[in-house]
Amino acid sequence: MSPLNIVVGITGGIAAYKAVGVVRALVLAGHDVHVVPTEGALRFVGRPTLEAISRNPVHTDLYEGVAEVRHVAIGQAADLIVIAPATANTIAKLATGLADDLLGNTVLASEAPVVIAPAMHTEMWRHPATQANVATLRSRGVTIVGPAVGQLTGADSGPGRMEEPEVIAAAALERAAASARRDLAGRRVVVTAGGTREPLDPVRFLGNRSSGKQGVAIAEAARARGAEVTLIAANLEIAAPEGCDIRRVSTALELQQAVTDAAKGADVVVMAAAVADYRPADVSESKLKKDEGDGGMTLELVRNPDILAGLGGAPHDGTLLMGFAAETEPDDDRLLALGRAKLEAKGADLIVINRVGWHEGFASDENRVVVIGRDGEIVTRAHGTKASVADDILDVVVSESTTAASAADTTKEHEPTT
Ligand code: CTP
Repeated sequence: MSPLNIVVGITGGIAAYKAVGVVRALVLAGHDVHVVPTEGALRFVGRPTLEAISRNPVHTDLYEGVAEVRHVAIGQAADLIVIAPATANTIAKLATGLADDLLGNTVLASEAPVVIAPAMHTEMWRHPATQANVATLRSRGVTIVGPAVGQLTGADSGPGRMEEPEVIAAAALERAAASARRDLAGRRVVVTAGGTREPLDPVRFLGNRSSGKQGVAIAEAARARGAEVTLIAANLEIAAPEGCDIRRVSTALELQQAVTDAAKGADVVVMAAAVADYRPADVSESKLKKDEGDGGMTLELVRNPDILAGLGGAPHDGTLLMGFAAETEPDDDRLLALGRAKLEAKGADLIVINRVGWHEGFASDENRVVVIGRDGEIVTRAHGTKASVADDILDVVVSESTTAASAADTTKEHEPTT
């Protein structure tokens, strides 16, 4: 990677001392790093330390360097902005777009990708205000790294600890590389995300635990890489990303309609949504009442269409079809075999095998997947944040569609001209 101009914002939390490690990792990787600490950050770590480690002068005051219009110049010149630690206060300010210090101005004056590493006490992290602010930032394309779960400043532990400096530096550089790639420019990518809900009556549904995080991460990453993205969103638990054409659906039949429309002429369709295989045979117009007595209840269900198999079975020249296989199988070989069987049965070009369970897969911010290609071969294995897994999955999409396009060109070359 050629050297980047990186702004590292440091805000006023105890983890500020660990931010020195982030600066150091980025400098050692050959980048030009400019540290913008808040006043609060300088109570935890001294300016001379930051200047020595970053090898650049450190500014913090909005009213210094006015002649060189520093409050916008730093942001305009940046290729990447990393904020570590990002306190609850800073996250709230970023979500609102406040610019009352040099860091706030720098972020607003920049078009560079922004990566933040939250650090705070568990209660503050879980507070609905913080969660809403994080969701806003994520929907604007900000990459959130962590927080990790572990020992906090006091005797308590839980989610809120800043991720390790090397992890933050690596995630930030990965994000910058993805933004610089633009290797999906001009491509139309359709992604389904979330889980369908099949109504029983006006107040109840049959659903599943898919949060939509992995599908949304793929949509975000594809958009960052230049694609025109349609996101078919089924009951997402997180905010839909900006910059995508969002089509909201709830049931499998609605999802089928939306994806069939959107797939026409698309270059790539990624079926990350968890689709209900069955729906109630009858949907009651009024709330179902329980019978008197202690008897149970039997629900009659009918099969939903297999949407991916429908797309795979129809002619889809020029459209790369990627499915997901959500499996609870603990044995690795059997897991792969289940994924291969799904790839075959559905006529997909690629399948992403994803182990799910009570404690893995769904709501988590991390994922571990294996991607299988047309001939059943393992194309890639990926694990890490759902954002980094999304980029690894899109790397496969890019290389597979390039291979398919060049194969098509070769065929054309050999076609007899009449
Ligand atoms: N899928 C679909 N339509 C369905 C069910 C699933 O298009 N009615 C898609 C999913 O979006 C995913 C792939 O098929 O890309 C595999 O989904 P999964 O839930 O893993 O498997 P199922 O086909 O439902 O099979 P099973 O539940 O028996 O494991």
